[in-house]
Amino acid sequence: MILVTGGAGFIGGNFVLDWLNQSNEAIINLDKLTYAGNLDTLISLKDDPRHRFIRGDIGDRELIGRLLVEFKPRAVVNFAAESHVDRSIHGPSEFIQTNIVGTFNLLEAVRDYWNGLPAREREAFRFLHVSTDEVYGTLEPTDHPFSETTAYRPNSPYSASKAASDHLVRAWHHTYGLPVLTTNCSNNYGPYHFPEKLIPLVILNALAEKPLPIYGDGQQIRDWLFVKDHCSALRRILEAGTTGETYNVGGWNEKANLDVVRAICALLDELKPRADGRPYAEQITFVTDRPGHDRRYAIDARKLERELGWKPADTFETGLRKTVMWYLANARWVQNVTSGAYLDWVQIQYGEQS
Ligand code: NAD
Ligand code: DAU
Repeated sequence: MILVTGGAGFIGGNFVLDWLNQSNEAIINLDKLTYAGNLDTLISLKDDPRHRFIRGDIGDRELIGRLLVEFKPRAVVNFAAESHVDRSIHGPSEFIQTNIVGTFNLLEAVRDYWNGLPAREREAFRFLHVSTDEVYGTLEPTDHPFSETTAYRPNSPYSASKAASDHLVRAWHHTYGLPVLTTNCSNNYGPYHFPEKLIPLVILNALAEKPLPIYGDGQQIRDWLFVKDHCSALRRILEAGTTGETYNVGGWNEKANLDVVRAICALLDELKPRADGRPYAEQITFVTDRPGHDRRYAIDARKLERELGWKPADTFETGLRKTVMWYLANARWVQNVTSGAYLDWVQIQYGEQS
C-alpha cells in the first residue's frame, strides 16, 4: 500500500480516485481537513476497503510514525500543503507551518521508518514530494520555459514555502540517502477544484450571475494541465523515476488569464446559455492586481517525456470542456463547497466586489 497526504484536496483527491481506478493497491489517506480538504470528493470510496482515511497533520511526527509502522507503505506521496497564493499574502503563517515545518516533520518520521526497513524494502521505498513551478519565480515573454535546472526564485510567501520544502526534501536525500522524487508542476484544473482558484471561481461566479474578477490587466500567463494528466505523470514518476531527481510536469498550454476566462464564458454560452441570452463575458470585471503577481509561468516537460515516456492526454480545449461539464453536472458537490468556509474567504479577498 501507499500513504498519501493531502488526499482530500483537489489534486490529492483526484490522485486517490484515479489510483484506485487503475490498481488494487490500497491507500492510507492522511489529511488535516483544512478549509480545502473535502471528504465529499471521496464519497464514492465510502465502502471501499482499499481506502482508509485518517484525519491528521503531516506535522504530527508521532502520528505519522505510528501509521507507517502499522501500515508499512512502500511509498509516501506528499500533496499536503497550503496552496493558495492570495491566502499566503493575507496570512503566511499557516504556509510556513504546514509547507515547511510540516514537511520537515513528515521527512523525519519517514526517515525513521525507512531506516528500520529490511534492505530490499529500503531499496524499493519512495518519498514523492509534489511541488510547483512557482518556485522558479517569473518569466519574461521571450524566456525559455522553466527546466529542472532553472534557479529557484520564489516571489510569494506560498512559493517561498514550497521552495523551502523542496530544499528539505533534496537535503534529506543528499545527506541521509532517503529515496526521494520531487515534481514541479504547472497550474492544474479539473473536477473537485476548490472555487478560490481562477477556473472554478469563474465557472461558478458566471453561473451565479456574479462578476468574473480579473486581476490587473489579465495578461498574466499560466501553463495549464488537466489534473488527470498530473496524476498520470505522478504514477509514472513513482513507478520509474530516478531517486534524487526532480521532474517538471506541464502540458505546453500557456494562456493569458483573460483568454482563459473568455474560453470559459464561450463554453458556458454553448452549454448553459444565460437566461437573458446575453454572453457570460459581460460579467468580466477588472479588479486590483495581486501584490507581487508573477507575470508568466511556463514548464519545459521534455525530461519527463524523454526519460519516462510521459505525455499529457488532454489539450487545454478538451480538458476545459470536461471541467465545465463536470461543474454543470455536479451541483451537489458545488453546493456543499460554496456553503462552507469558502464564503468567509470570498468576503476577505473580494469585499464589496463579491
Ligand atoms: P489543496 O489546497 O486543494 O489541497 C491541500 C490538501 O492538503 C487539503 O485537503 C488540506 O486539508 C490538506 N492539508 C493542508 N495542511 C495539511 C496538514 N498540515 N496536514 C495534512 N493535510 C493538510 O491543494 P492542491 O491544489 O490539491 O495542491 C496539492 C499539492 O500540489 C500542493 O502541495 C501544491 O503545492 C501542489 N501543486 C498544486 C498545483 C495546482 O495548480 N493546484 C500545481 C502544482 C503543484
Ligand atoms: O503554478 C502552479 C500553482 O498554480 C500552484 O502551485 C498553486 O497551488 C495554485 O493555486 C496555482 O497558483 P496561481 O496563483 O497561478 O493560481 P490561481 O488560480 O490563484 O490564479 C491563476 C491566475 O489567475 C493568476 O495569474 C491570478 C489570476 N486570478 C486569480 C483569481 C483567483 C485572477 O485574475 N482573478 C482571480 O479571482
